[in-house]
Amino acid sequence: MGKGKVVLAFSGGLDTSICVPLLREHYGYDEVVTVAVDVGQPEAEVERANEKGRMLADKHYTIDVKERFVTEYIFPSIKANGSYEGYPMGTALARPLIAEEIVRVAQDEGASCIAHGCTGKGNDQLRFDFVFRAAGYEIIAPMREMNLTREWEIQYAKEHDIPVSVGKSNPYSIDENCWSRSIEGGMLENPAHRPPEDIYAWTVSPEDAPDTMEEVRIDFEAGVPVALDGEVLPGLALIRRLNLIAGRNGVGRNDMIEDRILGLKAREIYEHPAATVLLAAHRDLEHLVLTRNELAFKHIVDERWSELGYMGLVHDPLFQALNAFIDTTQKRVSGTVEVGLYKGSMRMLGRSSLSGLYSDDLVSFDTCTIDQSHAVGFSSYFGLQARLCMQKNRKK
Ligand code: ARG
Repeated sequence: MGKGKVVLAFSGGLDTSICVPLLREHYGYDEVVTVAVDVGQPEAEVERANEKGRMLADKHYTIDVKERFVTEYIFPSIKANGSYEGYPMGTALARPLIAEEIVRVAQDEGASCIAHGCTGKGNDQLRFDFVFRAAGYEIIAPMREMNLTREWEIQYAKEHDIPVSVGKSNPYSIDENCWSRSIEGGMLENPAHRPPEDIYAWTVSPEDAPDTMEEVRIDFEAGVPVALDGEVLPGLALIRRLNLIAGRNGVGRNDMIEDRILGLKAREIYEHPAATVLLAAHRDLEHLVLTRNELAFKHIVDERWSELGYMGLVHDPLFQALNAFIDTTQKRVSGTVEVGLYKGSMRMLGRSSLSGLYSDDLVSFDTCTIDQSHAVGFSSYFGLQARLCMQKNRKK
């Protein structure tokens, strides 16, 4: 007696491909339904998932959520200056949406169990499991339950006529969506080892970038980018175009040691050209528009937002509450930022906003709008308690 139907989160890579026969042979399921979710990974990758899913599974779905990913996850992360240990999150943001779509298929298909190909060492297992468990599904994760090695997987794939693209020439694990590309594994697992140039796909090496600065202009409305170089664009198109522009100037590369949720340190390499520029430009605009109090408090809120986002806990009520605060602040974050891109570096060239709190009339060296002599009174109280302490210490 078989166990019925299981829905598998499917990328078409080695791990999820061998999950299909494993779910039948090892776990005893009669029917395997694969689901590929398109969050803006390269078209060839989506195509590979479709082909393999149709070939291996009893039924295959491809679900396109690119636009939703941008408006429901990337835009909020721009408003929250979302970053973890200094890099713009990409994989983390996509997981809850992918998981939500898998659950939808499991419901439609009447399956009681969901499978995924995450290992027991990473973050993705936690981000996925959280959503699947909350929806009441039993979870199977063959990679973490069976403790499989790459070598065993490749052998098993060959025995099942599954084409294998991972090998000595391509030993990396790559995760990609329109916001970020991450590369790990193979020789990169030695943190002292310098990555070969061919792991990069979105950025040129800064040394190879043009010798002249390229400028971009970004218009924001209520905290989100709406136009690039004066052309109004939908979010996905804007991000893709900016990925090309910043990438060809070597902007948005990152090689770092990251602390995973489990506590493991991992060597991670990222490419996120558009994210690097948009997050920096957004923060710059916030500094023009928000009050000092708002900026200081929002910094804390952004940190908590990013922690929850990294863990994939976007359904935690705190996450919703943080978003509500952030959205209130973002109503005024509209304006234009100009950014210069040059050989792997980026700098703000100028910014303007109708909501800006900057007043040249007040701050200028050349105006008398403020009677500077009033500052003498302010200054006489400034640091009063610290001054008293210093006097007492001197007497002792
Ligand atoms: N460390 C990142 C995260 O946890 C990216 C992991 C990406 N996975 C991969 N197979 N390259 O979000």
